[in-house]
Parts: sequence; C-alpha cells; structure tokens
Amino acid sequence: MTAVRLRSMEAGDAQAVADLHAASWRSAYRGMLTDEFLDHGVVADRQAVWTERLTEPVTTPAFGIVAEDADGQLIGFTYVLLNHDSTWGSLIDNLHVHPAAKGGGIGRQLLQAVARELGPAHSEPVFLWVLDANEPAKRFYARMGAEFAEYGMAPPFGGVSLPEWRCVWRDASVLLHA
Ligand SMILES: CC(C)(COP(=O)(O)OP(=O)(O)OC[C@H]1O[C@@H](n2cnc3c(N)ncnc32)[C@H](O)[C@@H]1OP(=O)(O)O)[C@@H](O)C(=O)NCCC(=O)NCCS
Repeated sequence: MTAVRLRSMEAGDAQAVADLHAASWRSAYRGMLTDEFLDHGVVADRQAVWTERLTEPVTTPAFGIVAEDADGQLIGFTYVLLNHDSTWGSLIDNLHVHPAAKGGGIGRQLLQAVARELGPAHSEPVFLWVLDANEPAKRFYARMGAEFAEYGMAPPFGGVSLPEWRCVWRDASVLLHA
C-alpha cells in the first residue's frame, strides 16, 4: 500500500487539484470525452472550477481531502457535497488518484477518510456518479461495496453527455471495512 499523508483540502491547493483533476481526466476519460476538450480545454475548465470552489465564499456545505506523497506532492483528492440530495444523501463529487499511483490503495484510503470525516452521526447515504464506460472505476466501486442503484444520462460535460451509474453506500461506515 502506498504511504500517503491525508489532510483537509485548502484554498492554496486549487492549482494542484486542478492540475491533477485534468491529468486524471486525460488519462481515464480518453475516448469518452472529446480529444479537443481533453487536449485543449480541460486545464482551464478545471482551474475555473477549483479556483471558484476553494477561494470564493462557501455557498454549499462541503469538504475536500487530499493525499500527498513523501515529497509533499498531491497524488489524490476527493471532494464531498454534504446533504446534497434528500434521498441519496451526501455526494462524493470527485475522487481521483494520479494515473501513476493508481492501484496502490490511495482511492480506498480517501474513501475511508470521507467516512471518518462524516463521522458516526452521519445517518444519510453517501453516493457518487460513475460513467458507464469507466470500467476500472466501476470495478473499484464494486470492490468498495457500492450498490449500483440507478442508470441515467449525465449532464453534458467536456462536450458530451454520457450514461452513468449512481453508486450508493446506504451506510457510509461500511467503507471503513471495505
Ligand atoms: C478509481 C480510483 C479512484 C481508484 O483508486 P485506486 O487508488 O486506484 O484504487 P485502490 O488501489 O485503492 O483499490 C482498492 C481496491 O479496489 C480494487 N481495484 C481498484 N481498481 C480496480 C480495477 N480497475 N479493477 C478491479 N479492482 C480494482 C483494488 O484491487 C483494491 O482491492 P484489493 O485490496 O482487494 O486488492 C483511481 O483508480 C482513479 O483515480 N481512476 C481514474 C479517475 C477515476 O476514474 N475516478 C473516479 C471517477 S467516478
């Protein structure tokens, strides 16, 4: 298992998170999103999102967690929107591990950190959306005990609209033992 330091995401992480998000999409979503977007638009798109999220006044209850390697380089992150949906609970809006660090247990550590941050009093489900074409991530979420609860079309992003699954954990604490 890759040793990482987990800590809360801060405003000063906006650039590094945006860079890692763009690198992860370029690697994982090639062939799903357009080459034009992945080759030219994705960095500015992610920079705008993360700058706004982390440096503008907070309008939505949320938290982020980052994973750093021994050199302090950001190699993974997750971001959670609390109480996002009255039925499905809190939304894990992002979960990404650097393409070169995948398969080393960092994704699991980040999901478990989310469960710890939510705490034992969190009685709602936790959910996320995964693209149907993202087979590696679907296998990861299945391994983490997710229920594939609903299938539908994602809102357009990166120039396309794609089918996706709603993955749900009815009880977030099960992630601690996944
Ligand atoms: C999906 C992702 C977050 C998973 O994180 P990770 O660090 O690679 O996964 P981990 O090493 O923590 O894996 C945990 C468990 O899931 C399993 N797993 C992970 N990826 C898998 C895959 N592609 N196929 C089968 N099992 C997989 C691991 O084998 C491990 O199980 P084990 O302990 O029984 O061996 C990461 O690969 C990633 O960032 N992918 C690209 C971006 C992405 O698709 N993000 C999700 C968007 S919804």
